[in-house]
Amino acid sequence: MENSAYTASFARIYDEIMKSVPYKFWYDYINEIMDYYQLKAEKVLDLACGTGNMSLLYAKNSYQVTGIDRSEEMLKIAGKKAREAGADISFINADLCEFRTEEKYDLAISLFDSLNYILDIDDLKKVFSNVYQALKEDGIFIFDVNTITRLMSINEGTTFFHGKDYTCIWEDTVDEKNKLWQVRLKIYFEKTGEYHEEFHQERGYKIDSIKNTLQEAGFQHIDVYNAYTLTEASDDDDRVYFVVFKNKRPIKKKKTISKFFINLKWGIKRILLSLRDLF
Ligand SMILES: C[S@@+](CC[C@H](N)C(=O)[O-])C[C@H]1O[C@@H](n2cnc3c(N)ncnc32)[C@H](O)[C@@H]1O
Repeated sequence: MENSAYTASFARIYDEIMKSVPYKFWYDYINEIMDYYQLKAEKVLDLACGTGNMSLLYAKNSYQVTGIDRSEEMLKIAGKKAREAGADISFINADLCEFRTEEKYDLAISLFDSLNYILDIDDLKKVFSNVYQALKEDGIFIFDVNTITRLMSINEGTTFFHGKDYTCIWEDTVDEKNKLWQVRLKIYFEKTGEYHEEFHQERGYKIDSIKNTLQEAGFQHIDVYNAYTLTEASDDDDRVYFVVFKNKRPIKKKKTISKFFINLKWGIKRILLSLRDLF
């Protein structure tokens, strides 16, 4: 199968096309989770960091950050943005299925359904094993995924994005049998006449098979939440967050009553976010 995602042409327009993506909202939600479990972190590993939007948020908030991505072109943009912001972030060009780090991290994150790009459960296990080795003994791994429910409900069809100097034609298809959402991008830069195509695929997994794979990689405690809540996730949800602990230890959570208020607060935040998107 083709593997031509995140080439130079899409990397160039990624941040513009994704400009309504709520990175700060995600950052705050992860902090909420950390606070709920009474956890602290200094060193953060941003897996599949792309153009570095989450890495930058962490670096600006005084975390020591390393970003990993297999797309050199996405990393070039990330590096440029970090330099312009005066942020000291290390970026590593590697495939998540193969990376090794010398440093050990308190927190590994992977957001915006990046792990859905791992199309095979054996590869997912390799990724999890690599993350396991990259974490400190009391390290935590927090990531989101699109569920099968979400991916299979995406409407097939074509969307056009018109930028200042480009047109991007975005064609969605769904392969129900293999639980794949596929996107073919056709990008045309009007001034230079450049034309590129690329192909993206995201695979959906059942929550239990991700949990089993994490356990096989060595992780000892796993909680899964419906996105932006502290409510246990189900396969019927759209996006879910895994909160994964490398080792078993007394897991301190705030009291149940706090969970109620946290869910209420995030319910309101979600409404405000959707209203912002409307205007
Ligand atoms: C949807 S983008 C998300 C990027 C970033 N996390 C964000 O929130 O903007 C998915 C990213 O995953 C990266 N990616 C996909 N498969 C990968 C792999 N096997 N190893 C490393 N990076 C990968 C892509 O290069 C791309 O930058």
